[in-house]
Amino acid sequence: MKILVLNGPNLNLLGLREPELYGAKTYRELEAEIRDSAARLAVEVEIRQSNHEGSLVDWIQESRGVFDAIILNAAAYTHTSLAILDAIKAVKARVIEVHLTEPNEREEFRRFSYVSLGAEKRFSGLGFGSYIAAMEYLAKGRDSQ
Ligand code: DQA
Repeated sequence: MKILVLNGPNLNLLGLREPELYGAKTYRELEAEIRDSAARLAVEVEIRQSNHEGSLVDWIQESRGVFDAIILNAAAYTHTSLAILDAIKAVKARVIEVHLTEPNEREEFRRFSYVSLGAEKRFSGLGFGSYIAAMEYLAKGRDSQ
């Protein structure tokens, strides 16, 4: 099973960025934890981050036929990007939406998610654990096939 992990804007600044919300661990540490779990679950992962909406759209389009699923933290684009939702629908990407925090418990403007309209499942509010839960969910589905 090949999983593409896509991270949106400002997630490269983990550790520095509002640590009271997002924690003290860095983006590199997030990548390392994802890779450790991938090895444990025997799944292949590729991890990418961009601050640009179009790059995320390109990567979703290009995932078709290459990756079995996408774990997507679109960050702020979650709440604004119809283009990301359209890309998910266009290539019928299997998407698991993740968030470090629980957006529904934050400001009102974070409650709506375009990504949720195209995602199979969502894990949020678990810190790095949201990504791990998404990987475990995908691996469990693979094992029960
Ligand atoms: C986030 C939540 C979003 O509302 C926010 O814009 C982010 C990060 C999270 O992982 O908790 O950038 O996706």
